[in-house]
Amino acid sequence: MNRAPLRVMTVMGTRPDTIKMAPVVQALRAARPDVEPIVCVTAQHRELLDEVLALFGIVPDIDLDIMTKSQSLTDITTRVLIGMERALIEARPDVVLVHGDTTTSTAAALATFYQKIPVGHVEAGLRTSSIAEPFPEEANRRLTGVLTSFHFAPTARAKANLLAERTAHAYVVVTGNTVIDAFLATERRVRAGAVAVPALDGLDPGRPMIFVTAHRRENHEAMRDIARAVQTIAAFPERPQVLWPVHPSPQVAPVIHEVLDGIAGVRLVAPMGYAETVAAVAASAFVLTDSGGLQEEAPTLGKPVLVMRRETERPEGLEAGTLRLVGARYEDIVAETRRLLTDPAAYARMAQASNPYGDGRAAERIVASLLHVLRNGPAPPEFEAP
Ligand code: UD1
Repeated sequence: MNRAPLRVMTVMGTRPDTIKMAPVVQALRAARPDVEPIVCVTAQHRELLDEVLALFGIVPDIDLDIMTKSQSLTDITTRVLIGMERALIEARPDVVLVHGDTTTSTAAALATFYQKIPVGHVEAGLRTSSIAEPFPEEANRRLTGVLTSFHFAPTARAKANLLAERTAHAYVVVTGNTVIDAFLATERRVRAGAVAVPALDGLDPGRPMIFVTAHRRENHEAMRDIARAVQTIAAFPERPQVLWPVHPSPQVAPVIHEVLDGIAGVRLVAPMGYAETVAAVAASAFVLTDSGGLQEEAPTLGKPVLVMRRETERPEGLEAGTLRLVGARYEDIVAETRRLLTDPAAYARMAQASNPYGDGRAAERIVASLLHVLRNGPAPPEFEAP
């Protein structure tokens, strides 16, 4: 039996994949000396990434530092491919873990495949019905899946998606989503008062707070409509307070500021720390977003989510009733928000806490699975949704 420590490289590049990979890095560290963790960041994002690394106490072993202003998908892909080749040749990992659907994930998986090193895909098997939405994430996760040997599916449905694509030769295990590990751990710190939350300072507890985020590439053209809808919402008689941390992308931030700067009831802030984000979800009446991670996190606290997309790869939350797809058109956003603010029965139907995405132990299962397939350790039981 091979007793050498398993050299596991984790690769991350943006804010959300780093939040979701952080619990895996922590679980790999806890598995020393059986495991030798190697952390590689591409830095597809810079400031957003560094904040998350600091929060979770992660110091990268390798930093490719690829971000440029107004980067195209080709810029990201080529820079990650070139940087990863060198990193893999120097670090010689036994297995490389990539996450989800970013361009970092797909380009790193391809570079790893070229080095004939097996890829493990964390948050594997999410699918929409159209390769065009979300763009380019749906294509990214499918492409990463083709290059993957070990699929860590967050839910039973994600596993079924993979098996339907005949990845039966590969190892597929249901682990739960690591975002729930990160969220629950952070929420405990927030509840213990261990986190400063300046973005919430001075909000009126007697008025409902709506937490808004938007950044997706397929919504770039709709960004002005989304901002105008928020302007209309802020003028509703219920006097909601909108809290919106604005993504730094040059395709996003200028439009939002142009429409909403100085509008009463709207608080635009710089990107918030992750702990502050968790606190904001907890303090909100509901969430209006095109984010994927928030669709998984908010149901844990029973917060309704209006999803500004036409498709979601997270149907479990739709079935649980916590999510509602509203699209990104002005009228629809205004009407659905109006309904949640004025119809208590509609609100109560959505405000049901549910945990279809995980139990906080996904990272542990991922590490145990790797030791199972690569070092003959015991097979961990799969995650089962309640
Ligand atoms: C990327 C991911 C998306 C994920 C999102 C989370 C891809 C194709 N997209 O989209 O799946 O949901 O991250 O944010 O992988 N910028 C900064 N500082 C930062 C981060 C970004 O200035 O810390 C600016 C840069 O000008 C950059 C732009 O934002 O060019 C866009 O970043 P990019 O990673 O290309 O796309 P996102 O929209 O962030």
